[in-house]
Amino acid sequence: MKIQLNEKIQGDYLVAIPAWEDFDLNDIKKFIPATIFKMLETWLAKSKFDWKANVVEKINFNNAKEDRDIVLIGLGPKKEAYNYTDLQNLFASIYGLSKKEKTKEINIVADHLLSFCESTEEFVKLAAQTFEECSYEFDTYKEKKNEYQLKKAVLITKESIESLLETVEAGTVFGEVVNLAKQLVNEPANEMTPRKIAEMAQKTGNAYDFEVKVYDEKKISSFGMEAFINVAKGSDNQPRLIAMYHKGDAENPHNILGLIGKGLSFDTGGYNLKPGEGMGNMKNDMAGSAAVIAAMAAISKAKLPINVTAVVAACENMISGRAYRPGDIINTMAGKTVEIISTDAEGRLTLADAIHFAIKHERVTKIVDIATLTGAAVVALGGFRAAVISNDDALCQALTDSEKYSTEKYWRLPADEEYAKLNKSDVADLKNSGGRWAGTISAGLFLGEFVQDRPWMHLDIAGTAMTDKPKAWQQKGATGFAVKSLYYLVKKLSETN
Ligand code: BES
Ligand code: MN
Ligand code: ZN
Repeated sequence: MKIQLNEKIQGDYLVAIPAWEDFDLNDIKKFIPATIFKMLETWLAKSKFDWKANVVEKINFNNAKEDRDIVLIGLGPKKEAYNYTDLQNLFASIYGLSKKEKTKEINIVADHLLSFCESTEEFVKLAAQTFEECSYEFDTYKEKKNEYQLKKAVLITKESIESLLETVEAGTVFGEVVNLAKQLVNEPANEMTPRKIAEMAQKTGNAYDFEVKVYDEKKISSFGMEAFINVAKGSDNQPRLIAMYHKGDAENPHNILGLIGKGLSFDTGGYNLKPGEGMGNMKNDMAGSAAVIAAMAAISKAKLPINVTAVVAACENMISGRAYRPGDIINTMAGKTVEIISTDAEGRLTLADAIHFAIKHERVTKIVDIATLTGAAVVALGGFRAAVISNDDALCQALTDSEKYSTEKYWRLPADEEYAKLNKSDVADLKNSGGRWAGTISAGLFLGEFVQDRPWMHLDIAGTAMTDKPKAWQQKGATGFAVKSLYYLVKKLSETN
């Protein structure tokens, strides 16, 4: 898709004018042809249109010379500042409008909005990214595909930027990788098997230029990843261990950030079988791995000056004569034994081994893990924020700083020793469920048992990975949540390294 910056509206296609209440139209007078401006003034004087939030009005102006559709978009009472979420909402509603009007090109009067971003580049990047995100639909299995595509947006402004093409490209790539994460999660579990997740990681590595290694079950066993193997062994779909490498800081080869993503291609619950209702959503139990794969693409493409190694232990939690059972006592790669309270608390087992592998085999020095780990996180925070458990204030601060750019929100939960004790077992070193109360915290702190002394942050995205309430830039289903946060978090860490 093309984005241009221009002082004059172009072509004869739609002109979108977003503005807040009491906006002085004279501020944008010079961007609009005089005849149209006159008609617009007359129309506004007579109409009751007052730029209320989310009110959109399409007007057709025509006379002998002109035939022009103008769309007025109300932004509500003027705000001190319009943040990234506001702007993303605006771009998305403009995209929706263009789609409804079936226009492939659109003018957007934007001069009065530019200053709300740190730079004109940031504004253009956000526009490109949002339009790209809006273009995604999960129609892989439908005969009738989405055919609409917005081809060109002209931002009407006096500003210009030198590296327009690169900026648009950067924004578009960002949207693309978010869409990639959505697609990986939306694909059903019969398609997106552990083997397929590994293939997609490899394919993404080829396309975005990062190295990928994939290990099969034999190799996984030889690493001693017994917890991972125990979760995987009930399924005929063989597990895969995936490692991905971005080497952006050759001067500090021993500083390596580990990104660990939960990759359950499907989670039936195992012998602690999940109720039928909602089980179908458990194809989203690899959303952590999807976020990690997609974030690696963005990190690599932007050549961030930092070393990042991502690890995904991909498998399926099923029932069979080979599956693990409640009551089993199993080993982990780290050597800690675990009493299985519930076969449905499988994610922490695969992640514990993935984290240990990342430390021992990949020598990571900081750890961020991301997982659809607990239903309790959905209960606590719903779909609006993801939960955070961490032993490191600096990592949490970097995450909080990223929220402004990512428009994704988090909330840190306490992590006192009392909660960690919930994971102690009478018959083994640990148990895999600390019970119903504070389930998100005890699950997080189970992982904390495996990070040794490393700065670590755990993100529980169980509530945010999927949505049944579509947003303007996001259809139902997978949201691609955390791709943007991970990117901005890593960017921040690369600056403070
Ligand atoms: N994948 C689920 C968590 C989940 C729930 C993700 C809802 C997305 C939406 C996880 O493996 C799980 O089953 N957790 C159990 C843990 C319990 C058995 C201790 C849960 O939350 O009920
Ligand atoms: Mn489970
Ligand atoms: Zn799970």
